[in-house]
Amino acid sequence: MRHCMSPLDFSVDELDQLMGLAADIEENPDKYSHACDGKRLATCFYEPSTRTRLSFESAMLRLGGQTLGFASADSSSASKGESVSDTLRIISGYADICAIRHPKEGAPLVASLHSGIPVINAGDGGHAHPTQTLADLYTIKSLKGRLDHFTIGLCGDLKFGRTVHSLISALVRYEGVHFVLISPEELKLPSYIREDVLEKNGATYEETESLEDAMPKLDVLYMTRVQRERFFNEDDYVRLKDRYILDNDKMKLGREDMIVMHPLPRVNEISVEVDDDPRAQYFTQAKKAVFIRMALILTLLGIQVDKNIPQPTNNPSSEKGGEKC
Ligand code: NCD
Repeated sequence: MRHCMSPLDFSVDELDQLMGLAADIEENPDKYSHACDGKRLATCFYEPSTRTRLSFESAMLRLGGQTLGFASADSSSASKGESVSDTLRIISGYADICAIRHPKEGAPLVASLHSGIPVINAGDGGHAHPTQTLADLYTIKSLKGRLDHFTIGLCGDLKFGRTVHSLISALVRYEGVHFVLISPEELKLPSYIREDVLEKNGATYEETESLEDAMPKLDVLYMTRVQRERFFNEDDYVRLKDRYILDNDKMKLGREDMIVMHPLPRVNEISVEVDDDPRAQYFTQAKKAVFIRMALILTLLGIQVDKNIPQPTNNPSSEKGGEKC
């Protein structure tokens, strides 16, 4: 049985297959509309979510399956002190696959160890958010046509932003991706990602505090929200929250063919006036997330609809995930 804990759980070839499957689903949704008849997805969310939970549910419903779950720790037995492992053992008897979000780093992994069904990490603390990364890769591939040889600027809360951590881990496997890390000193990328992921994989990167300086270099600008819930102190949050605001003036510094992404929700970091710029692609990104989650559910359940569309198996890859393409 295969779980999804990190984007590195899939080899580069398998990621390609997943994206190919997502593209086929996006083009031919009817072909897949009964693929999961009789199957159930549980969404166990111990932390707030709009997009991730609802897009997982939408994905399962579009595949003909059903969903059950809870949207906050208060409404589950976690409030009575039940462990995630026990909860997952129980849910294994109620559902065929489970997406879990938890404020503690590693909780989905612990849950998967005792689970009888595939477990998907839908975000664990400041650590990782692999399915957002799948959506991000699929968006970049669809809009730019490739996942290699481009410059990506990651801007905002690089310290606590789990989407950034997962995306960097995934992108270092592609050739020629250059990273521009744009953040205030206090929200810099943690050294365990800088050293163990970027440097260890020989990726090129630069760090800057200036979004204006970075803009002209970028093929992709990935904006992020300052992660208020992970701050120890509200004053620090208030001081840093409006450090970067992407507006039409800053957009003028960017290339014509640049795309702007954001995992959403946004707070103030992208002014609404930018939404009408054709380079703003964050709503497309949220839409595409449903198709890649459909592809992931099918893969983890071992359901292949069209034998002509290559798809990863539902057994863990024998290839090592960390290789370069
Ligand atoms: C992100 C998350 O939860 O990490 N949201 C999402 O899943 N799209 C980003 C965020 O909350 O800032």
